[in-house]
Amino acid sequence: MRVGGDIQVPGDKSLTHRALMLGAMARGTSFIRGALTSLDARSTARVLRQLGAEVSPLAPGRVTRVEGRGRFRRPDASLNCGNSGTTTRLLLGLLAAHPMRVTLTGDASLRRRPMRRVTVPLSEMGARFSESSNDGLPLTVTGAKLRPLRHRLPVSSAQIKSCLLLAGLAGRVGVELREPTGRSRDHTERLLRAFGFVIEERDGWLTFEPTGEVTPFEMEIPGDPSSAAFPVGAALLAESGELRVSRVCLNPTRTGFLQVLERMGGRVAAEDIGPQFDEPVGALVAGPSPLVGTEVSAEEIPGLIDEIPLLAALATRARGTTVFRDVAELRVKESDRLDLIASNIRALGGNAEISGDDIFVSGGDQPPRGMVRTAGDHRIAMAFAILGTIPGARVRIDDLDCAAVSFPGFREMLREIKR
Ligand code: S3P
Repeated sequence: MRVGGDIQVPGDKSLTHRALMLGAMARGTSFIRGALTSLDARSTARVLRQLGAEVSPLAPGRVTRVEGRGRFRRPDASLNCGNSGTTTRLLLGLLAAHPMRVTLTGDASLRRRPMRRVTVPLSEMGARFSESSNDGLPLTVTGAKLRPLRHRLPVSSAQIKSCLLLAGLAGRVGVELREPTGRSRDHTERLLRAFGFVIEERDGWLTFEPTGEVTPFEMEIPGDPSSAAFPVGAALLAESGELRVSRVCLNPTRTGFLQVLERMGGRVAAEDIGPQFDEPVGALVAGPSPLVGTEVSAEEIPGLIDEIPLLAALATRARGTTVFRDVAELRVKESDRLDLIASNIRALGGNAEISGDDIFVSGGDQPPRGMVRTAGDHRIAMAFAILGTIPGARVRIDDLDCAAVSFPGFREMLREIKR
């Protein structure tokens, strides 16, 4: 296909969750422009309303108004976090510092996702949990007056890190954290610093001593780089043209996929980068490129964790083999992504092998043809839909509607960039 145009993608998911939660923790009215309006963002807005914050309806093009009370109120019912791991884990951090019993649950995918990675350190801080025996949801938290924490994360994860920083914030206790391999996204740190909090990195430890409080704010949320990655991928596979995605968050802890694409021979440029509420924001310009395989190291994984389905899909079109090292975390995302990436590549006639915690994908020229099984996972659906744009491809996706979890209007975007 020929690509073209200058498009924008919906607001950043990570920043939207955090802005809504911080708005609820401030005493007064905050205004959020460009918030994501997807199902996951709606889950956060819904549960914050149950906890006493007033959050205006999330609608594209509308400023979101959050009226926070500084503290949460006891909800009338359990909190349904839908499909959203970020909602659940970040909220558990805030709830740990509220002396009340609250039950969290979610859809079938979320109920299976591991929560001990946050309940173990939150218990050490003083919160109590009654959990189901299988490490997932539903889960009841009883908050308490918290103790300071010094903790080594079992995996590099922004959800664990942010959960514990937010527990420190709401409980007004110090938190020291260390990630094992590579650095996960740092939006929470940047936001807290923007409110005047001091968060420092010393000898590999992140230290947060909360003094002060979150005050009402006005914020503009840039486009989500994880969503921008899909049209960029389509542009790389196109036969001609050039595509520009404007107003994308280019935080370096999120743009690991750009370095990998560059090594693969992808023509993607980041332009017009400027700061916006403590995040670098700019445009991505991409065009057709012959791709070659590469090795993605374990240290790189946290900086591109959500882009692996797309990068693996693109690797099926690259000359040679691409390997992603140490990607066991993919097994506990919205689906077992490791398994679904490999099985769907094979279902489309490609070549992928899982070996231990690594996945090897080799490229070819045959147009992809077959049926993709998504297990309701938005990123699996969108990654393979991008392969469907190749001339001669016949890619059927069992559920493309699940793209609405993070990317409302994904189908329309694919039509819009086709020239
Ligand atoms: C997120 C962190 C990542 C990512 C998720 C959003 C966040 O999860 O996969 O989509 O907003 O903190 P992990 O931190 O568990 O890897």
